[in-house]
Amino acid sequence: MIDLHSHILHGVDDGAATVEDGVEMARSAVADGVTVIAATPHVRGDYPTTAETMELRLAELREALAAAGVELQVLAGGELDLQRLAELPDDELRCFGLGGNASVLLLEFPYHGWPLGLADTVFGLRTRGFRPVIAHPERSAEVQARPEQLAPIVEGGALVQLTAASVDGRLGRRPRDAAFRLLELGLAHLLASDAHAPSIRQIGMSSAAEAIGDPALARWLTVEVPAAIVGGEHIPARPPAPRRRRFGWVR
Ligand SMILES: [Fe+2]
Repeated sequence: MIDLHSHILHGVDDGAATVEDGVEMARSAVADGVTVIAATPHVRGDYPTTAETMELRLAELREALAAAGVELQVLAGGELDLQRLAELPDDELRCFGLGGNASVLLLEFPYHGWPLGLADTVFGLRTRGFRPVIAHPERSAEVQARPEQLAPIVEGGALVQLTAASVDGRLGRRPRDAAFRLLELGLAHLLASDAHAPSIRQIGMSSAAEAIGDPALARWLTVEVPAAIVGGEHIPARPPAPRRRRFGWVR
């Protein structure tokens, strides 16, 4: 699996505190079935990570992983809040490109309230050659109340990332229900851990993939779409929903 949202870089935000923490998180990710992870530190007022710091920490973590013999590929990234997104020049935004793809940006969806102007922000990014990925909107009460509100954002060219802990119920019923409703509506495209600490439970990609209940869809969310993002390719078509037959699911 390819996990495109994690706080695995040390000493930059509320994720890994030390490089040893980062190595432990990497071990947990590998044990959970992850082969590639994007380091996406917060980039916002309270954690104003610069691209230079992100790249420095990324190099330190890669060196520590090689020394420890942990086979996890760690790619660049950043989780930008909407305010910081508006403040940074395009050159610096490109350094935070998700999974090392300079044209894809992971945007933090606020936990409270609907971000006014989000559709305009998405439109503006698209005209400047960026593709936004909206991080975990299912955790917002606004989206939980009306998941279909995201439709114009997706029609405008944004992709939507669901958090593994929402999908498998670790965050409670509301995020889980919203995540599945977004999937039903065709308004979700990838699953990621958003892990902040070293434990398998924090990663939880395999349990979320299983909770999807449709192996082909789970693979699209955890392998095919994130691989296309990293590789700068077109997002592959979503697999058709399985039909329910008398003896289980068939395709
Ligand atoms: Fe995050």
